[in-house]
Amino acid sequence: MSTVATLWRLRRWARPHRRAIFFMLAAACGAMLAQSLVPIVIGKVVDGPIRHHDTAGLWELSGVALLFGVTESGLFFARRRAMAISALGVETDLRRDLFAHVQRLPVSFHDRWPSGQLLSRLTTDLSTLRRFIGLAAVFLLASTLTICVVVVLLITIQPWLGLIVLVSMVPLLIGTRRFELRYSRDARRAQDLTGDLATSVEESALGIRVIKAFGRRPHMLARFRADAQRLQSAELTKIRTLGLFWALLEGLPQVVLALVTVGGVYATAHHAISVGQLVAFVALYLTLVWPIIMLGWLLALTQEAASACRRIFEVLDTEPTILDPQRPVPAEQGTTLQFEDVHFRYEDGEDEVLRGIDLELRAGETMALVGAVGSGKTTLTALVPRLYDVTGGRVLIGGVDVRDLRLDQLRHAVTTAFEDATLFSASVYENLTLGRAGITDADVAEAIDVAQAQFVHDLPFGLDTRIGEQGLSLSGGQRQRLALARAVLGRPRVLVLDDPLSALDVHTESQVEAALRRVLAETTALVVAHRPSTVLLADRVALLADGRVAAVGTHSELLDTVPAYRQLLAQSSELEGVS
Ligand SMILES: Nc1ncnc2c1ncn2[C@@H]1O[C@H](COP(=O)(O)OP(=O)(O)OP(=O)(O)O)[C@@H](O)[C@H]1O
Ligand SMILES: [Mg+2]
Repeated sequence: MSTVATLWRLRRWARPHRRAIFFMLAAACGAMLAQSLVPIVIGKVVDGPIRHHDTAGLWELSGVALLFGVTESGLFFARRRAMAISALGVETDLRRDLFAHVQRLPVSFHDRWPSGQLLSRLTTDLSTLRRFIGLAAVFLLASTLTICVVVVLLITIQPWLGLIVLVSMVPLLIGTRRFELRYSRDARRAQDLTGDLATSVEESALGIRVIKAFGRRPHMLARFRADAQRLQSAELTKIRTLGLFWALLEGLPQVVLALVTVGGVYATAHHAISVGQLVAFVALYLTLVWPIIMLGWLLALTQEAASACRRIFEVLDTEPTILDPQRPVPAEQGTTLQFEDVHFRYEDGEDEVLRGIDLELRAGETMALVGAVGSGKTTLTALVPRLYDVTGGRVLIGGVDVRDLRLDQLRHAVTTAFEDATLFSASVYENLTLGRAGITDADVAEAIDVAQAQFVHDLPFGLDTRIGEQGLSLSGGQRQRLALARAVLGRPRVLVLDDPLSALDVHTESQVEAALRRVLAETTALVVAHRPSTVLLADRVALLADGRVAAVGTHSELLDTVPAYRQLLAQSSELEGVS
């Protein structure tokens, strides 16, 4: 898509700020024009008061020149204000919409996209767009307008000299076109590399423990340096392209200035034009030089903005695939959970991870899900709240296909405690409720109780203590208990626990189990389990193998009849203690 067409797509976000934008453009154009009219007045001073040694008309002309000058500076300030309001307004609105869209996109999108690429789009690319709207767009318009007006004025002063100036615009246009093509490609590469670098910084910050513990700092530094060097050379390429164009922009006006000065003096000597006209012509031409030189910088910014815009629209144009149904079925209160011939393949995966899962959890039943590492347990649990959609078959809650429920109702009915207990930079309370409505303090207290997370009361500010990345660090077991409390909060109809007790010591584990038993008695639950002690919380156990349910039954039935199950649990040293 061409630069103009790409940037034109921003109009949707510009519309609410159109008054400020219009004012900004009008002020910029007005200031430029006021500035370029001053030389005409100077010409009149030379041909009038100076030539006729008559100072009478001087005051009037000086007054006019002063008026233009004051108008210019007044408009300059007006433009700055309007620019700040409009450019920041567009940037903020677009950032809000982009973030909202990124949140709407399914997990599969986030699997594909490195987080640094999203980060750079939400930060540096949007700043580039703001600079374009506030500066480049305005001055590009004002400069182009000035160049057109000045060329017309020059032609009216002296057609032949004016024509020389007009013809000199041809190499300028050709150079501009070539520059745009090259610079657009260079800018895109630099922006993509900025995204890669952001990913690299983010990953090394998150993985700092691993890096340090393995003494891999030099290795990571070398990798980072290579990334940074690639970015540096991309930036240098950009500068080289810009430099060549700039040389043309700087050099061309000088050559033309020499030509028109010689031509002008010749014409004056032959009385074709007056001295005043010559002075006006040259002074007017000099006002062109700056807008022409500025074109380089403005066009560079425009290309960068177009490329930033393309990168942003790559995200905005990605359609969310997991959506509310067109005709949602009213949420039933049923609590059965069924998997009917469920198939699933990851978007980038070769083979199906799940190949026909049939499983039925009765209302209120707790089903343990057991299987080898990588057998698809987490994948199966993710299909219940529609983090991914099945690629075949159906998942039903209370007999209703999850795809026929409104997403907010589905995710109200189902809650999950994930394998890795993600916490946000917020208070304990916010981490538990995540802003959900209708949660009372009593609910929170009960959830903390169930998850045996009473340690939160001993934190410096209790439930108001900030935790997560920018707050207090918690131990693995503490994090897991908070994640569990978050999941059981608000008594979901269906509870999905992905190995909820793995990071707990035996003592805490038995306490959590005791409390969890109470919760599990009231909901339907699918619990991924590795330890036999967790398995014992369940009414029945399903064994996952080769993407299918290999066996279903009580723990003791499976122990007796399924060797694979026995082997799997034998890997846990606790087997003797509990079987
Ligand atoms: N986001 C993803 N994209 C592509 N493939 C994936 C993705 N997540 C998991 N897989 C693949 O799907 C398979 C099942 O993974 P899953 O996480 O469901 O296993 P699991 O049974 O939960 O294992 P574990 O016991 O280690 O938690 C694995 O082969 C894994 O490589
Ligand atoms: Mg897993």
